[in-house]
Amino acid sequence: MQNVRMQTQNNSFLDGLRTIVGASHVLTDDLGFYELDWRKKYHGKALAVVKPANAGEISQIIKLCAAHRISIVPQAGHTSLVGGSVPNESGEQLVLNVARLNAIRAIDLVNNTMTVEAGCILQTVQETATAHDRLYPLSLAAEGSCQIGGNIGTNAGGVQVLRYGNTRELIMGIEVVLPSGEILESLRGLRKDNTGYDLKQLFIGAEGTLGIVTAAVLKLYPKPRATQTVIVGLQSPTAALKLLNLMRSHLAERLTAFELISALSLSLVLKHIPGQRAALADQFPWYVLLEANDSQSIAQLELAMQTALEEAFEAELIQDAVLSKNETEAKQFWGLRENITEAQTIESKNIKHDISVPISKIAEFIERTDALLEAKYPGVRIVNFGHLGDGNLHYNIAHPVATHTEASWFALYEEVNELVHDSVHHFGGSISAEHGIGQLKREQIKRYKSDTELKVMRAIKAALDPLGIMNPGKVI
Ligand code: FAD
Ligand code: MLT
Ligand code: ZN
Repeated sequence: MQNVRMQTQNNSFLDGLRTIVGASHVLTDDLGFYELDWRKKYHGKALAVVKPANAGEISQIIKLCAAHRISIVPQAGHTSLVGGSVPNESGEQLVLNVARLNAIRAIDLVNNTMTVEAGCILQTVQETATAHDRLYPLSLAAEGSCQIGGNIGTNAGGVQVLRYGNTRELIMGIEVVLPSGEILESLRGLRKDNTGYDLKQLFIGAEGTLGIVTAAVLKLYPKPRATQTVIVGLQSPTAALKLLNLMRSHLAERLTAFELISALSLSLVLKHIPGQRAALADQFPWYVLLEANDSQSIAQLELAMQTALEEAFEAELIQDAVLSKNETEAKQFWGLRENITEAQTIESKNIKHDISVPISKIAEFIERTDALLEAKYPGVRIVNFGHLGDGNLHYNIAHPVATHTEASWFALYEEVNELVHDSVHHFGGSISAEHGIGQLKREQIKRYKSDTELKVMRAIKAALDPLGIMNPGKVI
């Protein structure tokens, strides 16, 4: 009886959805793609997937969901690494996919802004900016699939944060449908606006728990006229940190990326990704991929880079370096960095981390945490790489082959996680630098955030989403 009643309620809900968006935009079969996360770690079951076309439709959907007490999982490009865009296993949640909101609404070349909808793919936005002789600097390996709504939902970081900041710094206005169904429209694109709380910031990084972002005003930059991409081989993270300082003193704000790659991380790319080849002839324990750009001439940039590298050689900070000769070669260098995630997935499952500590502490963090892990799990394989220039590492731990299988290693998931995260905490760091909390770290933040921080977060959630229908089970 209970089941029949639920079925009838669900049918009336689905009919309501079809009336709002049209039957062809309500999916109930073959939902595999929408229910499984990118890492294939979380496999949920959705009541349906709805694909609205605009904020007005989303507003009606949310009101319908509130009336039926059905919760919503906002989904954009579905590349979340923390299970943020996957429904739970109840079969009772609605996945609201924003891919159809994919218009570029406006470009203002004087204000240097682009107004886009949440379903625009990041790469399309970058290409549109380039076509207008501008730069939208957010850049990450998932850029061919991830969408602006998801970038905003996660406050995505990526490989150019050093120069341009996280997504948070790149958003000048937002349109969001609240859990009440009201549309909060703030797409003015103002560079100065001190009229009270900066509401847009609440929704950036909220991982869909406070509302559904439908559009945003993005900040554009001048398109660089010259770019230099370099890979260096070096002996230690300490040397890499000194190099970062040296590069900054020569290149200042022109330094856009400073990525650390361990020898193991690089070897996995060379082993598993077709078409990749080492940039340097010799092997080193560590590598740094760095990039600088200039909105003026290449000559000045080349001179500054050359001088910096010479100084780094003389100080014995680096043992080898290669500069890309052209854009194709620069892309090859980036392939070595951006394919690490894919390569390590092919090699074996990893206990992944996305941590940050103050940049000045990063070498100490690596030394201490490596030693703790090696002492407890001899032979452990640490796939360490990341955005050193931002103090952010992807410090991923694969099983020691002599003593563990993947399965026995994953039985230690929480223990290994705690060891790494306690070490992060020891250095005053964060257990999620850029990927968010999602469902992966929901329990763990309770250990590292203060009671007051959690209380304020819960109060904001309760104020905006009293029925708890917006992505429940994620973040808090
Ligand atoms: P989704 O996965 O669909 O959603 C992400 C979160 O945002 C979910 O919680 C979802 O509910 C919420 N959300 C989605 N749409 C909306 C919306 N319209 N309104 C409100 N909330 C919404 N991340 C980095 O930060 N830096 C990296 O360098 C990086 N590299 C990556 C490399 C690879 C190979 C992969 C697979 C992922 C990487 N990521 C990285 C993680 C991921 O790509 C980013 O978090 C990205 O911003 C997610 O965008 P998406 O469109 O796929 O969002
Ligand atoms: C990266 O920087 O490549 C990503 O954040 C992906 C990852 O952590 O694996
Ligand atoms: Zn990253």
